[in-house]
Amino acid sequence: MIQGNDRGGYTVPTRRLYPYQWNWDSCFTALGLYHVDRDRAWLELTGLLDAQWDDGMVPHIVFRKNDPDYFPGPAMWQTGTKPPTSGHSQPPVLASVLRQLVEMGGADDLEKARSLFSKVLRYHRWFATARDPDAKGVIAIIHPWESGRDNCPDWDIGMNAISVPDNLERYARRDTAHVQSDQRPTHEQYDRYLTIVQFGREASWNHEMIYRNGPFLMADPGIQFIFLRANRDLLSLARQLDLEQHYSEIQDLIHRFSEGSAWLWNDAVGGYCARDIRTGEFSSAMTNASMLCFYGQVGTDEQNQSMTAHCRRILSLCKYGMPSWDPSHAAFESQRYWRGPVWVIMNHMIIKGLSDAGETDLAERLRADTKQLIEMHGMAEYFDPVDGTGLGGMDFSWTAAIYLHHLHAYELSVES
Ligand code: DGY
Repeated sequence: MIQGNDRGGYTVPTRRLYPYQWNWDSCFTALGLYHVDRDRAWLELTGLLDAQWDDGMVPHIVFRKNDPDYFPGPAMWQTGTKPPTSGHSQPPVLASVLRQLVEMGGADDLEKARSLFSKVLRYHRWFATARDPDAKGVIAIIHPWESGRDNCPDWDIGMNAISVPDNLERYARRDTAHVQSDQRPTHEQYDRYLTIVQFGREASWNHEMIYRNGPFLMADPGIQFIFLRANRDLLSLARQLDLEQHYSEIQDLIHRFSEGSAWLWNDAVGGYCARDIRTGEFSSAMTNASMLCFYGQVGTDEQNQSMTAHCRRILSLCKYGMPSWDPSHAAFESQRYWRGPVWVIMNHMIIKGLSDAGETDLAERLRADTKQLIEMHGMAEYFDPVDGTGLGGMDFSWTAAIYLHHLHAYELSVES
């Protein structure tokens, strides 16, 4: 299946719905590919890094060939880069995947990681400056798409505050030609997504200007904890590679973003929530991104207990975990993209975090759910937490990749 999505050096998430190279899709795909073809797995990552911007950003989509089946394509973004790309990033899982490949592999893999190390470090510096220019220790996203969790209710606060300009360029969506519209974001949401893209384009993708004046600026527990974990993994790689000159810089990043994570703790719900950076307003429920606190290794013992209790409660409410929005909250929709469904790449990271934290029973529950979902309901993009239905795009690369990886890592007892 992953081979069927291979376009010669890069893998599309699925045909038609997503016909280009996506940042975090490619990273997770490399993790799965590694078990069948190591060189091809590395090529996936080196290809992604070939699209790195001069300022260090690794964009969320790389448009290698124009494909009218997808909207918004390169003409909407107008980033002026070669190859053409989108104008913002996506959850930086790259360093963590690199570390996993090195840990599963040998000397060759370590040398490949060495050849990519400085690019990945530049990517982390970009996140730390462009997305936290005042060094508060809180990573911002400038578009819900940057979080990878496009239409999660987390973003409703920031999205509702966006006024769609009269001169918003007219557009025709393509996603709803490929997937049922009740499994995708709404038209009102798309108008706002495009408003942010139009702002970025008019600002020539000047990220300082977008941070200060853009239509949307929120903190995401997902990106915050993924970035923190990525820095811990980058430090481990630096140590394995004896790159001593980089230790203190990466340690400083870990310190700064660990401290900053406290700003995402919402006392009202006893957990980590998304938050509007400009107004301080919190989102009001637990998500699968909140559960990445264990993966990021943040929080006091008391906070961790509260998060574990949320995790147990939410899992008791659904047949398959981890849903992308709390099923007890009014905004839960079991089939609509990031407003309820289970995503196995998120499960993969949550399982890692829970295992590291010694929460073995919770990790085991999620591992079993992940396996069962895929074996019973196929290689879908996402799944209904109530009945397991496979949703969104089918023959999905990252779902196949996580299945392969878990098979090797947990069942054939290779190190994860
Ligand atoms: C889409 O087109 O739905 C993507 O999620 C944007 O990255």
